Amino acid sequence: MPLPKAELHLHIEGTLEPELAFALAARNGVELPYADTDALRTAYEFTDLQSFLDLYYGLMAVLRTEDDFADLADAYLARAAAQGVRHAEIFFDPQAHLARGVAMETVVAGLGRALDRSEAVHGVSTQLIMCFLRDESAASALETLETAKPYLAPQGPIVGVGLDSAEVGHPPAKFREVYEAAAALGLRRVAHAGEEGPPAYITEALDVLGAERIDHGLRCVEDPELVARLVRDRVPLTLCPLSNVRLRAVDVLAEHPLPAMLDAGLLCTVNSDDPAYFGGYAGDNFDAVRVALGLSPERLRELARNSFLAAFLEHDEDRRSR
Ligand code: HPA
Ligand code: ZN
Repeated sequence: MPLPKAELHLHIEGTLEPELAFALAARNGVELPYADTDALRTAYEFTDLQSFLDLYYGLMAVLRTEDDFADLADAYLARAAAQGVRHAEIFFDPQAHLARGVAMETVVAGLGRALDRSEAVHGVSTQLIMCFLRDESAASALETLETAKPYLAPQGPIVGVGLDSAEVGHPPAKFREVYEAAAALGLRRVAHAGEEGPPAYITEALDVLGAERIDHGLRCVEDPELVARLVRDRVPLTLCPLSNVRLRAVDVLAEHPLPAMLDAGLLCTVNSDDPAYFGGYAGDNFDAVRVALGLSPERLRELARNSFLAAFLEHDEDRRSR
């Protein structure tokens, strides 16, 4: 029985397995520049974040209809459930779809259809977080938030905003205005920071964007003062160990700083990021760190517990304090 866990750092577009990509390409008459699924898998030789993003955005061409997004999310939820995921807070990249002429309604209705039946079918509760592409303009992010208004909680499934894509050169402060607008709308706020970017981007995501969780946050270890702050304020970090190896944020998994981060008292969680591209889902990431880093059963339980503490779920203490 896999440990029950919440997944908090998962890009739904990153769950597109080669087999589904080819099936959707055939369904939609999209020509892929790969002979078959093996040829596509062979292309998964990333050297950094950008080399991954180029392939990831390219393959999204097969996602066109509401059914495509529903099938994508349903396939992820089935796999996640099999690996012990009981709650998933799922990222999507609306701008990447809007730019291809796929409407917000198509994306959210498709994902929403799978999410609506997820508890009954897979036993996984879900929330949706829309991410702004940080290499697009601040104006585009604001426009995207405007387009998403009909789909925001409580009427719609979108509970929060995030920030992803190419990090270096696109500091969090660029998105101050859209995060302020999101906060005013009652949305939760997270941001990728400190994956490839410097520790200062983590500080900026907290101070300028009001981020409640940091996605990745790996490079905080370079700044002891920042580590002390993250520990003191119990700021959750959504680490993605297999992603870090595949995108070369760490050389090998055995050198991942996760054990030292836990020892330092950081509220770390383990997640899959883009499991179809990086070699595994949430449970696979847990298994990989257990083996490569020799994590004890207590440490693994701590990670699983952290995932629920860091989730945007209503906790018992919240309920009691009302
Ligand atoms: N970092 C930034 N952007 C992303 C990622 C990531 O790990 N995955 C999908 N978009
Ligand atoms: Zn990510």
